[in-house]
Amino acid sequence: MKLFDVYPINEITITKAKGSYVWDENGEQYLDLYGGHAVISIGHTHPHYVQRLTEQLNKVAFYSNSIKIPLQQELAEKLGKVSGKEEYQLFLCNSGAEANENALKLASFFNGRKKIIAFSKAFHGRTSLAVAATDNPNIVAPVNQTDNVVFLPFNDEPALEKYFSEHGKEVSSVIIEGIQGVGGIHMASESFLQKIRALCDEYGAVFIADSIQCGYGRSGKFFSHDYANVNADIYSMAKGMGNGFPVAGIMIAPHIQSKHFMLGTTFGGNHLACAAALAVLEVIETENLLQNASSVGDYLIKHLKEIPELQNVRGKGLMIGFDVPAELKDLRKNLLWKHKIFTGEAKPSVIRLLPSLALRKKDADEFLEAIQEEIHAGRLTVDA
Ligand SMILES: Cc1ncc(COP(=O)(O)O)c(C=O)c1O
Repeated sequence: MKLFDVYPINEITITKAKGSYVWDENGEQYLDLYGGHAVISIGHTHPHYVQRLTEQLNKVAFYSNSIKIPLQQELAEKLGKVSGKEEYQLFLCNSGAEANENALKLASFFNGRKKIIAFSKAFHGRTSLAVAATDNPNIVAPVNQTDNVVFLPFNDEPALEKYFSEHGKEVSSVIIEGIQGVGGIHMASESFLQKIRALCDEYGAVFIADSIQCGYGRSGKFFSHDYANVNADIYSMAKGMGNGFPVAGIMIAPHIQSKHFMLGTTFGGNHLACAAALAVLEVIETENLLQNASSVGDYLIKHLKEIPELQNVRGKGLMIGFDVPAELKDLRKNLLWKHKIFTGEAKPSVIRLLPSLALRKKDADEFLEAIQEEIHAGRLTVDA
């Protein structure tokens, strides 16, 4: 059987990984500033993570949600403590799209309404409602199309106010990434997030903070929306939560109450997934990774801003993007093949950095030196 060919891939096979580095089958070492798409939060094969998962695997890996799984409660408590939102409730599932599906559905159960507000360039996943709320018609199949989702311009307060003043009583939820990832590293302004909070309160709509890419410490705060000093009603989480183990969830404010069977999943919250998520939070805490993401992120942003060839350097913590000018169009490719550095991208010409939250300054320096070398080489070619 052939694989269904949906990904353009790099011809690299990774056979070993440690911290912020990976190695291919020929023993070649690569610096990983992509983190397997923002997933590697505490570093590859962290010893505490490996040990906790191994121990759990030797006890019990899976049983369904029909029995007590004390690890789930342990995870909920730890997550409440590390995120600073102890009064919230946790529902566990398996992927980012599933987390957003559940968030949007729960909001609609809660207020009995149908309309969802999403924003230009938003990415919320590839399934049903999540893809309908994603601003990319190429990945929305005819069956996913719905009039229930409306797209408004990102960071445009008057447009949001106008929509609420005309249709506020129909709005079930507003979903927004604190920092747009796939859209190219664009930060929601603090005043825009505050405006969403105020309008949701005024009209009885649910504020959903998609924290799948920008959350879990990536921005230097647990949720990037925290920079605006507002609480969302629901936070969706995935990528960094399991450091590669598929685990996701939504954190739900206390005023939204559960009913049996309103949400559910077979695999969500299984023993192994909880062990992975707990190991991640334990390492985030003991190694102070929010602080590290913030300081190494500031360091990287500061030095990238000093390189005049790179345009619009932006981001928060270790979620960083910049525009690559046409003269350096091969920069990302050269970083990978010549300098052995993985980076992420956003179309058409943005380099995205989404490394482990444990990235060290000397790893950042390796990247900055490689960029300087590439720019220097580019100048020589232009001058020649
Ligand atoms: C902001 C955001 N939301 C949702 C998703 C979907 O997550 P998943 O691929 O785990 O379904 C992604 C994935 O890139 C994302 O970046």
